[in-house]
Amino acid sequence: MASVSLVSAVSAASVVDTDLVQPSVARVKWLAAPTSSAWLEAANARPDLLLIDHAHCERKAAGVALQLMFRYPAEPSLGEALSPLAREELEHFELVLQVLARRGLALRPLPAPAYGARLSKAVRRDEPGRMLDSFLVAGLIEARSHERMALLAAHAADAELRDLYGELLASEARHFGLYWVLAEARFGREVTVARLEQLAAVEVEALTGALTGTEQLRMHAVGVEPVQAMVQTLPAGWIS
Ligand SMILES: [Fe+2]
Ligand SMILES: [Fe+2]
Repeated sequence: MASVSLVSAVSAASVVDTDLVQPSVARVKWLAAPTSSAWLEAANARPDLLLIDHAHCERKAAGVALQLMFRYPAEPSLGEALSPLAREELEHFELVLQVLARRGLALRPLPAPAYGARLSKAVRRDEPGRMLDSFLVAGLIEARSHERMALLAAHAADAELRDLYGELLASEARHFGLYWVLAEARFGREVTVARLEQLAAVEVEALTGALTGTEQLRMHAVGVEPVQAMVQTLPAGWIS
């Protein structure tokens, strides 16, 4: 599932040597487990809450790209890749703000789910591991956003939201492809894949559990299926 998405994502990334990258992505599962139907049900029960959280996610995604540019100001080719990404995330932020305004919703602060903090904790503190982990964690978050937006594009009750998520999900696919390329170009495929597998397991661990109420719903709230249930739980038409 995730690897199908990654192939299209990576082929769209302009900095990619596609002959080099595509054979590897078929083996890489960025997401170690799919989102649960319980999460989707909660998302459909609280579309306004999810939309507000989504706006925050776009804002934070721009912040992550900028933070990496500031942390590694002299890293060759990094600014060229991350500056357009940050701009695109801010455009997404503005788009979601417009939808919020049309619905009479304010961008109120929301307590963040444990997801981001759990993934940050897994990032090694010393270089060069810190750089590799930072790219892969950012990529995993983009991949999960892409997966959940694809679910919402297909299953949200509201046509405006289906259109919004449908419009945004292709960008998120490109973004996780971009972080993959940044990692592989610097650390090589073997090291990157091995670390990705470890961090993908942490990502699933961070999403394991059940919501105690829909007020806790977030784009990255808990809600994944067991890995072995992956094929059975794919919604109809998910891959198309
Ligand atoms: Fe985005
Ligand atoms: Fe993104």
